[in-house]
Amino acid sequence: MTQSFAVETKALVKRYRSVLALAGLDLAIEPGCFFGLLGPNGAGKTTAVSILCTLLRPTSGEARIFGSDVVDERPAVRPHLGIVFQDPSLDTELTGRENLEIHARLYRLSERGTRIERMLEQMALTRDADRRVAALSSGMRRRLEIARALLHEPRVLFLDEPTVGLDVHARRSLWERLEQLRGSGLTLFLTTHAMDEAARLCDRVAILNEGRVVATGAPQELCQQVGGDHIELELDRPEEALPLLRTKPNVQDAWIEKRTVMVKVKHAPTELVALIEELKPQGIRAVRMREVNLEDAFVHFTGHKIDTAGNLE
Ligand SMILES: Nc1ncnc2c1ncn2[C@@H]1O[C@H](COP(=O)(O)OP(=O)(O)OP(=O)(O)O)[C@@H](O)[C@H]1O
Ligand SMILES: [Mg+2]
Repeated sequence: MTQSFAVETKALVKRYRSVLALAGLDLAIEPGCFFGLLGPNGAGKTTAVSILCTLLRPTSGEARIFGSDVVDERPAVRPHLGIVFQDPSLDTELTGRENLEIHARLYRLSERGTRIERMLEQMALTRDADRRVAALSSGMRRRLEIARALLHEPRVLFLDEPTVGLDVHARRSLWERLEQLRGSGLTLFLTTHAMDEAARLCDRVAILNEGRVVATGAPQELCQQVGGDHIELELDRPEEALPLLRTKPNVQDAWIEKRTVMVKVKHAPTELVALIEELKPQGIRAVRMREVNLEDAFVHFTGHKIDTAGNLE
């Protein structure tokens, strides 16, 4: 393995009794990359993060952080790591500032006060720093966890599903903070089942399915590999449209979601007029066109759709 990768795994396997959580994970992440590990509930995301953060031993295979082995060279690996766990781990009886103070003392950091002020500012928490964590919103708590994880200036920040349970506003505000970390040299390793989040934030993603990477690349590259456009038609009688569409040579795929017929074609503007003409008898209520997105790519590579809670449909 080479020294040049921030995170590298080779044939990483984790077995919990009868469950094969990771079935040979291969990753190679360049320093400074904003990387996303994508997968539904139970795909093995937290298992991968836990191994990379030296908290869990792999069954077999290798994992390195900046060239150091996560099992054999733990003391060399740990200072590089910043971790925001899936489950909140702040002391809710203490204030935000006190939580940061404890972390700074644990890591024996110099210039604690200055560091803490800087991180509070960076995560837009200065005004709320002296409130008890129990009184903070879930979005603020998440930002506080990120502030804490960055306090000792790690080279890799792991974020395990950081926006789960946040409302739309808190989610966007967290995204903005994470975007500001891009380009600072920090490597970000995010896990998520939210494809819009990955498409917006990540330079590269890997799609995890049953413990294996089934596709990897920039979100845009994965969409291009799938190719094509979608035409969505809201119809009075969508079920009548499907047999008709499936006989058309230019239609690559067609299915129903709620009352909408989803049609996959090579180039939507070319097909649109003919399609509308064809489906008029089924009662057209609305028509939309869109390019393939990361969610479509996910379905293509895994054969599954995931709902907003991260479960397979
Ligand atoms: N301590 C454990 N003992 C036994 N099985 C486990 C343990 N931890 C995880 N698993 C199983 O390993 C698989 C992967 O779990 P993991 O938590 O890594 O997935 P995940 O992608 O993080 O899921 P989620 O999106 O729900 O957080 C699942 O089938 C899970 O049930
Ligand atoms: Mg998890």
